[in-house]
Amino acid sequence: MTRILIVGHKGQLGRTLFRFPTDHELLGMDLPEYDITDVERTQYALREMRPEIVINTAAYTNVDGAEAEPELAYRINAHAAGHLARFCEELGAVMYHISTNEVFDGQRVGQPYDEWDQPDNTHGSTYARSKLAGENAVRFYHSRARIIRISWLFAPGGNNFPAKIVAAADKHGALRVVADEYGVPTYAPDLAQAIFQLIDIKAPPGVYHLINGEATSRYAFAKAALRLTGRGHIPVTPISHTEWQRAAQPPLRAVLVNRAAAALGIVLRPWQDALADWAAQV
Ligand SMILES: NC(=O)c1ccc[n+]([C@@H]2O[C@H](COP(=O)([O-])OP(=O)(O)OC[C@H]3O[C@@H](n4cnc5c(N)ncnc54)[C@H](OP(=O)(O)O)[C@@H]3O)[C@@H](O)[C@H]2O)c1
Repeated sequence: MTRILIVGHKGQLGRTLFRFPTDHELLGMDLPEYDITDVERTQYALREMRPEIVINTAAYTNVDGAEAEPELAYRINAHAAGHLARFCEELGAVMYHISTNEVFDGQRVGQPYDEWDQPDNTHGSTYARSKLAGENAVRFYHSRARIIRISWLFAPGGNNFPAKIVAAADKHGALRVVADEYGVPTYAPDLAQAIFQLIDIKAPPGVYHLINGEATSRYAFAKAALRLTGRGHIPVTPISHTEWQRAAQPPLRAVLVNRAAAALGIVLRPWQDALADWAAQV
């Protein structure tokens, strides 16, 4: 049994990990009791808790909001992540840090991003750049960190894309959905299982892309969510990202492929099967 601290344990992924059936001892750290931007208190709490593994799921995740609050986004996603990594290194705790497909600019067509591709999103959103700064800080301060990149996260009861599509369908009766943004959905319960598998097999340090299967468009993902929740009759108009005004522009083709975990026998099922599970619970 290993003592594992889940930072951000009240969030969408954090609570899925925190509730996951496991023999490991699970501890939690989240707002308002703990604020990871309070460096001294965080260091003190970590010394008290003495985790052997820390999984950092905490983040400033409001992608559009980060454009108006860049300092806060950087403080949480980059600086606090780096300090956590430093404290983990001091304590001898292994760090698992959750990152995003948005560290890639998504300009590459026809070839997904491997774990060993060099992330670069210099012209990306504030959120994307703060998350890349977080990866770099974690690598700088921790010699054995595992960086887990995911995309389009969804979970039962979470604030996520398919949940927003279902809510919007019920409210408006018809939808317009972006058809030229591509990604791979990640189902939090499958991701949690894969992370515990990586822990149990003592997977080596490095980068892992954990996603459910292959790429889809926002439009196709929305259509599938509607069909699987009995709303297949709702009309959906495919539109270009240029017709959907938002503060932050996500990368259009930041499509991840899982090679590192797959080489260790860890592969998440196709997103279509995971979405059917999700739909049965909403
Ligand atoms: N959601 C996606 O589609 C997606 C895609 C790719 C990568 N990711 C990454 O996956 C990870 C988990 O995402 P998620 O959707 O589970 O996020 P989430 O639901 O927003 O959960 C994040 C948790 O961290 C907490 N938190 C924020 N600031 C904190 C602070 N200063 N101190 C302590 N806790 C703090 C949040 O509390 P409050 O709610 O009170 O702020 C929340 O409970 C993040 O690293 C995110 O960047 C997410």
